[in-house]
Amino acid sequence: MNVLTAILLALHLIGLALVVGTFIVQMRAKSGFRTDLLLAGAIVQLVTGGAMFGLLAGETWFDHLKYGVHGAIGVVVLGAAIGAFVAQRRGARVQPWFHAAGGLGLINLLVAVLWRQYT
Ligand code: HEM
Repeated sequence: MNVLTAILLALHLIGLALVVGTFIVQMRAKSGFRTDLLLAGAIVQLVTGGAMFGLLAGETWFDHLKYGVHGAIGVVVLGAAIGAFVAQRRGARVQPWFHAAGGLGLINLLVAVLWRQYT
């Protein structure tokens, strides 16, 4: 891994903290959701993840199936985070979007870490 990929991975872990951390802190909330933090994290994940994908895709060890699934779930997380942000601005129900984004973010973390262990 070169230094650029390492920096991107560090930023990717900060984005992960924003998505999953915000979700865990507000998991039982009924209102006042920090959809701005959730959305910022989801955007960071797509940008840093996409860049790492581009840099690493040619490596022999790179598991395209794993990171294809991982990237696709990340895109859905971003869609749900946008849904949460927009719903909040319109005064609509935020909770389902918030839980979808946070829950899938958590699942995506598990996909990244556990898939590496068992393949
Ligand atoms: C909420 C969304 C996301 C979460 C929680 C997440 C979480 C993680 C975690 C924990 C890792 C480190 C474990 C590992 O190296 O396998 C990782 C690595 C990685 N992620 Fe994500 N990710 C998300 C979104 C994305 C997206 C959207 C993409 C691509 C478009 C992506 C591409 C990658 C790549 C390529 C790596 C491998 C980095 C390396 O091995 O150096 N991720 N992700």
